[in-house]
Amino acid sequence: MAKPHVMRIEGYVILSADGMLADASGVMPVALKFEADQKFFESALDDADLIVHGKNSFEDQPRSPERTRIVLTRSIPALARDPANPKATLWNPAGASFEDACRASGATRGTAAIIGGPVVFEMFMDRFDTFWLSQAHSLTIPGGIGGFVEVPRRSPQDILASHGLKAGEVRILDAARAVDVTAWRRTT
Ligand SMILES: NC(=O)c1ccc[n+]([C@@H]2O[C@H](COP(=O)([O-])OP(=O)(O)OC[C@H]3O[C@@H](n4cnc5c(N)ncnc54)[C@H](OP(=O)(O)O)[C@@H]3O)[C@@H](O)[C@H]2O)c1
Repeated sequence: MAKPHVMRIEGYVILSADGMLADASGVMPVALKFEADQKFFESALDDADLIVHGKNSFEDQPRSPERTRIVLTRSIPALARDPANPKATLWNPAGASFEDACRASGATRGTAAIIGGPVVFEMFMDRFDTFWLSQAHSLTIPGGIGGFVEVPRRSPQDILASHGLKAGEVRILDAARAVDVTAWRRTT
């Protein structure tokens, strides 16, 4: 089936071995921040034309203020300029399509980087061209918040596969701490 828009959609997340993106209090712990992964993430976002995330997610990088972004929130009915950030468009999917939100942001070509949280990833599961899944294989976050809505009932890998994505190349980011990133690419 033809895609409903022309932007390339890429997802980014780093998860613990047990599939968590934040601790029980909803905060991404320092233990889940690795220099090599942060560099990978920063360079990918430098190449993106649009960043998309929920109200509580933010990449917090030096060039963040320069990036065009869409922020999901239920605090507005459909679309609005973000009074706090001239590069940000507020979007409530209940009142406007993603395509409308892209037009409102001024970014309608190139790559959109979807950076979380779990509900936002879920919305794009059938649209990702590539999902870059970073994982810290020697870190667990008991009682944490799953990276995807169905974690821990299903593994992140099962979820990506069930949405038509297939594991491709694996890049080792930090061998000593068992951190890598796998490119999950759409096959269907
Ligand atoms: N490890 C990683 O790579 C990674 C990635 C992303 C996030 N995180 C961490 O995960 C935690 C945040 O998790 P979160 O689930 O709270 O993230 P979030 O999706 O960034 O924030 C949730 C908020 O976004 C808005 N939102 C989300 N889905 C929406 C929808 N369908 N329609 C309208 N508004 C929507 C709502 O804002 P309003 O309340 O304004 O309506 C909601 O309260 C943070 O600690 C963050 O650092 C980690």
